[in-house]
Amino acid sequence: MRILIVGARSKTVEALLRLLRREQCSWEIVLISHRDGEPMDVHGYPVYVLPGYARQPLKNVCLGWEPDVILNAAALTDVDLCEQNRYLAWQVNVGLVETLVAACRVLGTHLVHLSSDYVFDGDSGPYPEQARPRPINYYGKTKLAAENLCQAAAASVTILRVTQIYGTPAPWATDILKWALDKARRGEMVQVAKDLFTNPVFVDDLAWALLSALRRRDEGIVHIGGVEWVSRHEFLSQAFRIAGFPEERLIPLPAEELYRGRALRPRRAGLVITRAKELWTFSPHSLEEALLLALCRNHRGGKVSGETIE
Ligand SMILES: NC(=O)c1ccc[n+]([C@@H]2O[C@H](COP(=O)([O-])OP(=O)(O)OC[C@H]3O[C@@H](n4cnc5c(N)ncnc54)[C@H](OP(=O)(O)O)[C@@H]3O)[C@@H](O)[C@H]2O)c1
Repeated sequence: MRILIVGARSKTVEALLRLLRREQCSWEIVLISHRDGEPMDVHGYPVYVLPGYARQPLKNVCLGWEPDVILNAAALTDVDLCEQNRYLAWQVNVGLVETLVAACRVLGTHLVHLSSDYVFDGDSGPYPEQARPRPINYYGKTKLAAENLCQAAAASVTILRVTQIYGTPAPWATDILKWALDKARRGEMVQVAKDLFTNPVFVDDLAWALLSALRRRDEGIVHIGGVEWVSRHEFLSQAFRIAGFPEERLIPLPAEELYRGRALRPRRAGLVITRAKELWTFSPHSLEEALLLALCRNHRGGKVSGETIE
């Protein structure tokens, strides 16, 4: 099978390629990034650069190589930046998807596209697939627009909506866990929302779900998340306990205070993962198991580019 992957340097793709190496998968992979820089390969898969994902060169690569599946993991994921630079947010989160969908339609290629629980307003999560989206920030609006584009284009598509991702070992990527632990290591206090809830997903579990999506190519929306539905403060408290940092370094605050003047965040977000369990026997680690795995390998330290960690 031939897979074209857009968003080579995302934490999601790092985890997927690590899993493909471990599974000794013989798929042909073309890995594309929007910019020059490090790493130039991810687990031995070379990264090809198409500056800014310019529409025509990207289309040419798709049409020239004729992949069986295109995986789109590229996105502007900084929700405050999306609010400030709406043009860029739209270009990356929607414009790029428009190009990929067009190529998929011409070729009859299946698209696996990543979306977010931020398409919901956060009034009543965790949400099942059929819940009505109502984004409350610009990032969420772009993610919903891209979903609508995929579905309206009638291309064959799997939309994986994902909750907050954590546990990346990639030195070039970051997530809430890494950010907070780095601060704690420097002896800094960590302000964290006590009233933002989701069921965060371990990046390795997400990779497992993605592998199923690529193999099976089931159409429609599938929700991916972790087992426990927790506040960000509860999440980091557990991580600090396991990592041996004093929980007093965490300062729990209401989101309204913490993010004043910044993008709104859905309060009670999160995703019901029943469909993924039924379709793919998706069975994510418990929060404690996942944190232990993530923290142990980060502690051991791992070289990611060019070799597998585990
Ligand atoms: N992070 C989360 O907690 C979270 C939660 C829910 C849903 N999601 C969704 O899951 C997917 C993967 O997320 P992730 O956290 O793995 O991504 P990530 O680590 O934030 O990486 C996103 C990738 O998008 C590309 N990108 C970033 N800025 C860009 C720009 N200005 N122009 C063009 N490309 C740009 C980059 O890839 P290249 O350098 O290789 O081009 C970057 O590595 C995204 O669709 C995201 O919306 C993420």
